[in-house]
Amino acid sequence: MQKILFVCLGNICRSPLGEGIMLHFIKENNLQNLVHADSAGTANYHVNEAPDHRTIANAKKNGVDISALRARQFTSADFDNFDKIYVMDKSNYENVLSLAKNTSHKNKVDFLLNVLHPQQNQHVPDPYYGTETDFELVFQLVYKACQKIVEGLD
Ligand code: 4NP
Repeated sequence: MQKILFVCLGNICRSPLGEGIMLHFIKENNLQNLVHADSAGTANYHVNEAPDHRTIANAKKNGVDISALRARQFTSADFDNFDKIYVMDKSNYENVLSLAKNTSHKNKVDFLLNVLHPQQNQHVPDPYYGTETDFELVFQLVYKACQKIVEGLD
């Protein structure tokens, strides 16, 4: 069982997509015993809120329902509860690492897009102040990364 946590800033745009797309793949392919997915934000601005309405609408258009997810803040306990922590950008990376207590914790953290483009530390851009095109780009990036993660499960 691999436990994966997706992390962004607010946990209402990018990381809920990681969680929701993984839950979608888990359900479609009966992967419940292989992988567990969750998401969190480094900030507490939107705790207990549903994902951003634009993210919900765009995901729905792409066949993924994320409306039931609720935001929570990343905590240092997540280092013990998850095997892999995928962040969306450098700021998330630094905020998460600042809470790491040891090398084992640090080694769990990686940029999500490194699953597609190893070691390039590419960002999933924050769409919060963007347009529909930005939300669609984010969906496609996160979807492809999740597909790759699922392909690598054993
Ligand atoms: P996320 O996007 O980190 O992908 O959830 C954001 C959500 C909220 C804010 C910024 C980014 N905000 O400033 O409230």
